[in-house]
Amino acid sequence: MSRRRIIAGNWKMNKTPSEAVELCATLKDLVKNDDVDVVYCVPAIDIVPVANAVKGTNVHVGAENFYIEDKGAFTGEISAPMLKDAGVEYIIIGHSERRDIFGENDILINQKVKKAFASGLKPILCCGESLALRKAGTYTEWIKRQIKWDLDGVSADEVKNLVIAYEPIWAIGTGETATADQAEEVCKMIRETIADMYDAATAEAVRIQYGGSMNAGNAAELLAKPDIDGGLIGGASLKPDFGQIVNA
Ligand code: PGA
Repeated sequence: MSRRRIIAGNWKMNKTPSEAVELCATLKDLVKNDDVDVVYCVPAIDIVPVANAVKGTNVHVGAENFYIEDKGAFTGEISAPMLKDAGVEYIIIGHSERRDIFGENDILINQKVKKAFASGLKPILCCGESLALRKAGTYTEWIKRQIKWDLDGVSADEVKNLVIAYEPIWAIGTGETATADQAEEVCKMIRETIADMYDAATAEAVRIQYGGSMNAGNAAELLAKPDIDGGLIGGASLKPDFGQIVNA
């Protein structure tokens, strides 16, 4: 079974609404590729202008965060129905910056994955180890545990529509990329974990991205690996280079 490649930009806390529209215009002709799912995950305030800017193109809109309730007294938060209504299809959940800076734990992340599926949003679930865990050699157990916690109570049919992003924290925004072999080792292990938790068909269907300093220079080698189905791209998603990654 061949999985469709998915290249997602994670804009993080970058681009004002007018800058976001400009970036969409810059990238417009560069990201045309009907064989790839292209997603821009953008700050909440950029969602509406970006959704308008990419209308009629192959680009899908994603969000970077949401809360698990539909509405109510949750000052500062944004809900799944709000995102859906604004044209969002994908949602990043469990990014290491949300885990480390904003204290999101696997219980909340699991609730978010379930809520996203229940709301018709497609989660991009992030996992990955710190440099200390990489050096200690315990990163495999760590990532398996993240996947098990984060997918607790999530059905096989849902997982078939899940995207998992393996993002070693030591490679995020550092310019230090995992080698293609290091990335493949973990992506393969994640697929085997899904096979153990569910079944072979589910493991074959789930799409697994690599993320962490992916750029125009290293994308092709990473994406050539059998268990790497795409990329979650931070820094390079804000530049014309993103087009080269989409077409790598
Ligand atoms: P980076 O970020 O490409 O800038 O390393 C990736 C991410 O955090 O999703």
